[in-house]
Amino acid sequence: MDQIVITGGRRLQGAVTISGSKNGTLPLLAATMLVEGESVIENVPDIDDVRTMLQMLESLGVRSRFIAPGVLAIDASHLRSTEAPYQLVRKMRGSFYVAGALLARTGHAEVPLPGGCVIGSRPVDFHIQGFKALGAEVVEEAGIMKARARRLRGARIYLDPRLRSVGATINIMLAAALAEGTTIIESASREPEVVCCAEYLRECGANLSGIGSSTLVIRGVERLHGCRFHSIPDRMEAGTFMYAVGATGGSVVLEAVRPDQLTSVIDTLQAAGVTVGYGDDWIKVTRGERPGAVDAMTAPYPGYPTDLQPNHGVMAAVARGTSIIEETIFDARFNYTDELARMGANIKVVGRAAIIKGVPQLSGAPVEATDIRAGAALVLAGLAAEGVTEITGTEFIDRGYERFVDKLRPLGAQISRCAVENRGAECWV
Ligand code: UD1
Repeated sequence: MDQIVITGGRRLQGAVTISGSKNGTLPLLAATMLVEGESVIENVPDIDDVRTMLQMLESLGVRSRFIAPGVLAIDASHLRSTEAPYQLVRKMRGSFYVAGALLARTGHAEVPLPGGCVIGSRPVDFHIQGFKALGAEVVEEAGIMKARARRLRGARIYLDPRLRSVGATINIMLAAALAEGTTIIESASREPEVVCCAEYLRECGANLSGIGSSTLVIRGVERLHGCRFHSIPDRMEAGTFMYAVGATGGSVVLEAVRPDQLTSVIDTLQAAGVTVGYGDDWIKVTRGERPGAVDAMTAPYPGYPTDLQPNHGVMAAVARGTSIIEETIFDARFNYTDELARMGANIKVVGRAAIIKGVPQLSGAPVEATDIRAGAALVLAGLAAEGVTEITGTEFIDRGYERFVDKLRPLGAQISRCAVENRGAECWV
């Protein structure tokens, strides 16, 4: 078991390259199952969730190999199973994307229901309603979703406009790509990760329009061919580094990013008095004085992303004044606040809101990460705090952040990773 050890209070300085997107790449990997022949996906992040997804695909007969760092050749010509193994699905919700892809390609899918999650209840009812609307017969038996259809037929599908589910939009889009006739998804998610998947499908010969809007139109085609595609940069990793500066101070340039996909985050940081400049593919974040208090309310894209809300909580914890954060997407996303309070933050959670009174300084403490984004937020808190913070639960951070510790160290962070039993001076490299 590893832990991350940080001696905080050092301002960050330098440049960091942002990796390919976790949430953008996982659907692409599932989507390759729709394709006859090989696809080459570039900018694939080296993270545990990608490894889990590739293991899952391999168990279904998909062959893949890295032909260069971050460049994956992947071929589903030899699918041999339509039953996803529970041991892999339970590790990661994104694996449920194989349901839509298998159903479209083979007319059959058996995928364990992903179950609960520490950030709140995460049902897949919208996904299943979508498959049924496309003509699939779906039953749930012993915790497994079993779906069958001779050939899916296009349909008009309405998603809940308040939630605009990312996962359901992608899964239905995958299923509809090879269906007979036209599918219209109303109140579709507009997240960049959905756009990324839609553009990959289009590159491979799918007929989609309304990409990036809330009405997605998919005209089913007979087959898709392989293509070469570059996955998007990870806007959550980018936002995490931006908030690292917001919470800690200093000046960092992010390279290989898409500022146009981070507008709500840039605006929020600027409102806190953090200086943010950007060009086509870079963002520079500079903070001298303590940040000001800024409220934030999470919402589907282009609104403020729920995945960055814990990072906002960390900056608010050291801001001048009181901030209110409202969480509208996941009901248990404030789990990290108890750990932050142990580091001296003044936080009160009332229902779906957190009221955070900024303090001049957090203090280091042993804390535990309970999910990917909470883990990243605790790292930021450790960077901003005085003294030593020891973070356990690093396996969550490894699921979604490529070489997080190695990227922070050149920026001046005093951060290390070591086996719990080896903790001590020898960990400092
Ligand atoms: C994806 C992201 C996650 C991000 C979230 C919201 C991946 C792998 N994960 O998760 O990091 O925080 O989008 O931007 O890309 N809902 C239902 N029924 C459903 C589906 C969703 O009630 O069938 C609800 C969820 O409980 C939640 C809301 O809809 O309250 C939005 O969830 P959704 O957009 O589907 O999130 P995910 O795709 O699971």
